[in-house]
This record gives sequence, C-alpha cells and structure tokens, in this order.
Amino acid sequence: MESIKNLKEYLGKEVELGGWIYNFRSSGKIMFLQLRDGSGFIQCVVEKEKINEEKWNNLQKINIEASIKLKGIVKEDKRSETGFEISVTDFDILNYSNEDYPISKKEHGVDFLMDNRHLWLRSRRQWAIQKIRNTVINATYEYFQKEGFTKIDSPILTANACEGTTELFEIDYFGRPAYLSQSGQLYLEAAIFSVGKCFDFGPVFRAEKSKTRRHLTEFWMMDAEMAFYDYIDNMRVQEELITHIVEKVLENNRKELELLERNIEPLEKIKPPFIVKTHAEVVNELRAMGSDIKEYDDMGGDDETMLTKKYDKPIFVTKYPKEVKAFYMKPDPDDPKRVLCSDLLAPEGYGEIIGGSQREEDYDKLLARINEMKLDPKVFSWYLDLRKYGSVPHSGFGYGLERIVAWICGLEHIRESIPFPRTLQRLEP
Ligand code: 4AD
Ligand code: MG
Repeated sequence: MESIKNLKEYLGKEVELGGWIYNFRSSGKIMFLQLRDGSGFIQCVVEKEKINEEKWNNLQKINIEASIKLKGIVKEDKRSETGFEISVTDFDILNYSNEDYPISKKEHGVDFLMDNRHLWLRSRRQWAIQKIRNTVINATYEYFQKEGFTKIDSPILTANACEGTTELFEIDYFGRPAYLSQSGQLYLEAAIFSVGKCFDFGPVFRAEKSKTRRHLTEFWMMDAEMAFYDYIDNMRVQEELITHIVEKVLENNRKELELLERNIEPLEKIKPPFIVKTHAEVVNELRAMGSDIKEYDDMGGDDETMLTKKYDKPIFVTKYPKEVKAFYMKPDPDDPKRVLCSDLLAPEGYGEIIGGSQREEDYDKLLARINEMKLDPKVFSWYLDLRKYGSVPHSGFGYGLERIVAWICGLEHIRESIPFPRTLQRLEP
C-alpha cells in the first residue's frame, strides 16, 4: 500500500491506496471520491464502465467516512491541490460507514465538536494541527540531541509539589498524600549531577480552576535543566530551541499552515535575538497602556495579551517578584525582592509559552525558603540533598507543548492543540 504523499513517483503508473472517503459525489456514470489516508488527500475517479457491476452497485451504498482499499492509475490534474488524481481500476469497500456521521460540512459549535472529538480528529483542520504538533515534538528532540542533552524520564506520581500547592491533583492510594506531577523539573535537577544537561517530555497535571483559552488540566511539558548555566545562558537555550522549532514547522508543514489559514509572515520573523525586558519595565509599559498591574503583581492573562500584541518577536520577561514565583528560584543578588527568572511570551497576543529560572543552589537558603512558604521540608529532603553533595549553579525551563502549538497554528483556544483535551468540564471522549 502506498501513501498519498508519495504519488508523484507513480505518475502514469498504478498504485494501491487505503483510506477513508471524506466526501463524494456522483454524476450518474462517474463517482468522484475524496480520499484521505492520513498522509494526504486525493480525488479518485470511478467510471461505471471500467468496474464490474456488483462493485459499482455497492459503491452507490457508501456513506461519508466509508473505508476503502483501491487501485488506480495516477494522473496529472493541474486543477486539484495535489496536482494529481486517481483513475480507479479496482476497489474493495471495507466498511460502508453509517449514514448518521455526526460531523458535516455545516458549522458546528465547539462543544458539539469536542463531544465528538474522537471523530472530529479526522477533519482536515485537526489533521493539520496534529501534524504540526508532531513536528514540534520532533524538532524538540532533535534540538536537544544535537546539543548533547540526555533525555531523562521523570515520574508522574510524586510526594512533593513542584509549582505551589493550589493546583495539585491529590491521589488517594499510598496511605499518605501523593500527587500527579506538575513538572518534572525537580527530578531533572537531580539528574544534571549525572548527565550535565537533560530534558524530559511528558504529561503533567494542574488542577486549574481557571477556564481560559490558555489552560488545560492535563498537558504536555518539556522540562530542560543545565548544570553551570545561569539565567542568561538559560534564555539563550530557549531562544535557539524556539527558533529551531519554528524553522522546522516552516520547512515541513507549509501545506498544513495554509490549510489553517495561518499567516506565516510573523513566524518567519522568529529569529534571535528575542526581546528581553525586566518585569519592572513591563509593569511600567503595561500601566502606560491602561493596565492596573502593580509593581509586585504577577502578570494577568489580559496583560500578556496586551503586551505581546505590540511585538512581533517573543519576549523574555525577567526578574519577577519572588512572591509570585516558585520556592526554588534564586533571588536576584541586586534586589532580594526579585528572582533570577524569565518567562518567555509568544507574540500576537499568545503570551507565556515557557517558564524558567536559575535555581537556588545553597542548602540553607533553599531550606529557609521552603519553610517560609510553609512547604513540608520532609518531602523535599531528597531535593535538599542535591545542595549538600557537590551543589553547582544551574538553571532550567519548561515549555507547554499545547501553548506552542496553539501559537504556531494560530489557534484561538489551546484545547484544539491536544488530541483529547482535559479541562475542568471535560473528561470525555
Ligand atoms: O511556568 P510553569 O508553571 O513552570 C514550571 O512548571 C517549571 N517547573 C518549568 C521548569 O522550569 N522546568 O509551566 C511551564 C509551562 C508554561 O510556561 C506554560 O507554557 C505551560 O507550561 N503551562 C500550561 N499549559 C497548559 N495548561 C496549563 N494549565 C498550563 N500551566 C502551565
Ligand atoms: Mg509560568
């Protein structure tokens, strides 16, 4: 069986394809089948006089989404988007598909489509998004392997929180509190003492009560951690990684971006250097734009939207107030109220895609901060050990895969960027 994307090599020759009929029409003696096989889309033409009668009659009974195996000659067709069509010589219908396929050409509401996510995934738009997501994942692996990072798999079941306790999923199994991981970061911090530079990639969980276009309760995070890197070195890695990812999507997914009607001009501008601004500078800028954000406030979603609409490059916002950030971040030696961190905000109103920082490497200071934030030092004892045996300056960051895919694809809402989204209201399909 061949793939639609390879048809060029078969011009004038016979191929065998297998796929689904996402649309069809008949003009009496000819049937036009729109075939999809996962690699692409192609029109297949069946002429009554070239097919035996029984098969022709069976073909009249198919419904949208029927599955089929067919053979045919590849012909040039300048008018079609692929440049080819198939003149069918033989076929076998595998499944006729029921006539009540719920997703039609007419507009459906998002809730309806999400209830039918298992079927909606087949649509062209959703296909394009998943193809781009796949490129983002591959480009990430590629970048880290090229740069000498080792993949370290961090656990999902943990006894300690990573990012604060308000968004934890608690599990009742171990006879004591256990949680679903919010980020593999703390485990990667242990692994740098073995491999120097590492990354993980997996699902993480946030019991987010917020219903925004940027939040999921289960999403995919890539964490990276590097020994001997300060928070500036950390930003350089992120800049290179994001540039590489966007480059790869532009290289591999032109057709998908077109299908999504994504304007690629802004993506073509994603090149180093990215913009760097301190949190203090950004607060002033936002206030001048009408935000009521205060000196030591976290940025709200609306602030991120407003700020990033102004720029066509990603923006690193550095040195947030320590009160709005996690316990492990290293304070700024020039201003103890702030930490050596950076959030990377994507342009065009998208906002935060990466959170990162230099980590506190001093045992006493880290322990003091854990106590100050009323966290239980007992569950962090293994993490504190890392500061006892050969502690070194180090930094790292974590990206949200769905946020990056939503930005690159130009999606309005993050929920379309993951195959089966989990939100406050959605556990199915
Ligand atoms: O900024 P966050 O919370 O940072 C961390 O978890 C660090 N431990 C990462 C590290 O330093 N290794 O999350 C990282 C990224 C965010 O920038 C955002 O892109 C994404 O994860 N993210 C979410 N994506 C979807 N839904 C949510 N509820 C998200 N929360 C965070
Ligand atoms: Mg963050």
